[in-house]
Amino acid sequence: MNTQVNIRKAEKTDIDDILLIETLCFETDRFNRRQFMYLLLKSYFFVAEIKGKTIGYIILLHTKRSKNLRLYSIAVHPEAQGKQIGQHLIDYAIQLAKSLNKQGINLEVRETNQAAINLYKRNGFSFFGIKPAYYADGAHASLMKYSF
Ligand SMILES: CC(C)(COP(=O)(O)OP(=O)(O)OC[C@H]1O[C@@H](n2cnc3c(N)ncnc32)[C@H](O)[C@@H]1OP(=O)(O)O)[C@@H](O)C(=O)NCCC(=O)NCCS
Repeated sequence: MNTQVNIRKAEKTDIDDILLIETLCFETDRFNRRQFMYLLLKSYFFVAEIKGKTIGYIILLHTKRSKNLRLYSIAVHPEAQGKQIGQHLIDYAIQLAKSLNKQGINLEVRETNQAAINLYKRNGFSFFGIKPAYYADGAHASLMKYSF
């Protein structure tokens, strides 16, 4: 399974698949088509595919001045979860951050999202704060960072 995963730059033609993944993965705070189109232009936006089928995505933000990349979103189609696709996407993000000479990666994660927190912790991310009521439903975000 792992060897078949391909990570590549997201394109306009991926948006329908990405929107489906978004709907299946998130109950609130979803990105819509317009936001994804904007992110295609303004972020590091990659998809994971298996045999040509898009089954996950990752979005990273940065400015020239920022010392860290920001992991803005990551999601894997529910039918493909638990097969190391998320791990591949995180590996890719870490390599990208290093190649851009960033000092690390920051992110926000819903404090109850144990699957994502486990993935991040497993990759060396640690907690450094909380953003209260960060999500539309009032849930708090835990702040996590990984420093190289
Ligand atoms: C978080 C997410 C991207 C992980 O992707 P994935 O492809 O399933 O993850 P992997 O198979 O690479 O798993 C890597 C590690 O993540 C953790 N993990 C993944 N799924 C998990 C689950 N259901 N329960 C607990 N830990 C889990 C584990 O630590 C796992 O390591 P292990 O297999 O050695 O136990 C995926 O669950 C997802 O899309 N969730 C919905 C969207 C979301 O919450 N995104 C994060 C927003 S901050």
